[in-house]
Amino acid sequence: MTVTTRKRVAILISGRGSNMMALVEAACMPSYPAEIVAVISNRPQAAGLTWARDQGLKTVSLDHRDYASRESFDEALHQKLIGTGAQLVACAGFMRLMSPKLVDRWHNAMINIHPSLLPSFKGLDTHKRALTAGARITGCTVHIVRPKMDEGPILGQAAVPVLDGDTPELLAERVLAAEHRLYPQILSLFAANQYNIDQDVAHLKAEYIEGSTLFSPEL
Ligand code: GAR
Repeated sequence: MTVTTRKRVAILISGRGSNMMALVEAACMPSYPAEIVAVISNRPQAAGLTWARDQGLKTVSLDHRDYASRESFDEALHQKLIGTGAQLVACAGFMRLMSPKLVDRWHNAMINIHPSLLPSFKGLDTHKRALTAGARITGCTVHIVRPKMDEGPILGQAAVPVLDGDTPELLAERVLAAEHRLYPQILSLFAANQYNIDQDVAHLKAEYIEGSTLFSPEL
């Protein structure tokens, strides 16, 4: 794929930005079908923003506390996104609910990563809740953003076993390693138009390739 066909992607973060780093690193490959045109944070102190700036990426700090309402912040965010020339938006630990108007403006052009196997464990404290529920397998999901939190067509998931003795922190670490592998792969497929969305379900255009099944405990 030539550089001219690469999709322009803006990444939204709120903190550490390790998923953003995984996307930026993947996009360094000339054959990757997306380029990262900006990293935007709603928290000026986000560590990920400093990292992105040090990489020479365009960064935007848009403090949500400067806006009187969710709608006015979302309007400003939309204008910033337009200003970067982004065609797609990748949320990577962006911890803010978005107004339906903003989500609709980026219909089928905004994706998110969530640290659970959706539709299980939407919202916060996913790992603690997976442990409390006694789940044996959890994981992460990349999905298209819809107005309802952590809902939308699922583009890809990675399964991660829950191990005896896990704490939320240990589980989060294992899931995060899977996130860093999953997100660049799914953004690549999405940017290369490899999905059909039908009745709000995402179908991969490529033929199904039989893969392995994860059992926990192993059979
Ligand atoms: C990640 O685990 C991501 O899945 C999660 O926040 C973390 C951000 O880490 N996102 C959500 O919970 C969104 N609902 P990072 O800043 O190091 O990428």
